[in-house]
Amino acid sequence: MREIVVSGIRPTGNLHLGNYFGAVRSFVQMQETHDCYFFIADWHSLTTSPKPENIVRSAETILAEYLACGIDPEKATIYVQSDVKEVLELYLFLNMNAYLGELERCTTFKEKARKQPDNVNAGLLTYPTLMAADILIHKAVKVPVGKDQEQNMEMARKFARRFNTMYGVEFFPEPQNYTLSERAVKIPGLDGSGKMGKSEGNCIYLYEDEASIKKKVMKAVTDSGPTVPNSEKPEVIQNLFTFLEIVSTKETYDYFNEKWNDCSIRYGDLKKQLAADIAAFNAPIRERIAEYSANRQLLRRIAEEGAEKARESARRTIEEVRQIIGFR
Ligand code: ADP
Ligand code: TRP
Repeated sequence: MREIVVSGIRPTGNLHLGNYFGAVRSFVQMQETHDCYFFIADWHSLTTSPKPENIVRSAETILAEYLACGIDPEKATIYVQSDVKEVLELYLFLNMNAYLGELERCTTFKEKARKQPDNVNAGLLTYPTLMAADILIHKAVKVPVGKDQEQNMEMARKFARRFNTMYGVEFFPEPQNYTLSERAVKIPGLDGSGKMGKSEGNCIYLYEDEASIKKKVMKAVTDSGPTVPNSEKPEVIQNLFTFLEIVSTKETYDYFNEKWNDCSIRYGDLKKQLAADIAAFNAPIRERIAEYSANRQLLRRIAEEGAEKARESARRTIEEVRQIIGFR
């Protein structure tokens, strides 16, 4: 039997390079070897009050982008969270044994509460239980997510353990975070801020073309250049090299690295090359995004078939959970 994998992304915009290299790239690889469930976390996006007219459209956007990245509905189950109501029942059960104190202590909650002080809703507080329900509903053992999700994953494990202990069963496995490389990948921003992210406003999106990528890359923060050979790179420069590492060839990386080391580097050249390489990386994905987005009928069919498969798995779990809890 293949190991079960679950992961999701909230539909709050378009996918950017951070999402791709932090999460979606793992999805594409894992679908070859694991039993995968990849979903669009539209319920989770309600914690930040999106407009009703945008809900369906936003989910379609991410679906088209998932497909464009190479997630294959023949290999993985792709669905929209709100199509699988069984998740809600598990969310309710888990919430009965989730405590105010531990939820309030989550840094993700504290951060959101700070960012939107006028809307500190119960959905934000119980974000980790809904996420745990997403994962446990398929009894997943691996969850490919970026580093920022580590605490939510810890909570998911805690809720799984608590359920098992409470009812004296070995029912839920403890899901582990999964990253392709040894350390969790963090794609930096090019504006000198730590990470690329929608709320940081520094994203390069997968749908972007060469001209707009170039504009963003040419504006990347740099310094006045190295003066001592073989010196350590300051963060903003390391960020540029991190990008070269992921989108350029090894020759390109080595070329600029040597130029850095002998202090002859010209950041303008590096940026031009980097912009071209990001554009080349984006090009095929960008083309497929346009194709899938134009075919709403296909998107709908894929979502329906995915939901059907996801519900089947969810139903099996929830029926057993009801039994265990005592609803016989
Ligand atoms: P954003 O920060 O843009 O709102 P999300 O929080 O929706 O992105 O993240 C969706 C997924 O992409 C998560 O698994 C997250 O860990 C991953 N991710 C987002 N930004 C990055 C980044 N800069 N580097 C690595 N992974 C990232
Ligand atoms: N919290 C995740 C994020 O912000 C999205 C998410 C919701 C998720 N439920 C999940 C990720 C279950 C993995 C598994 O990116």
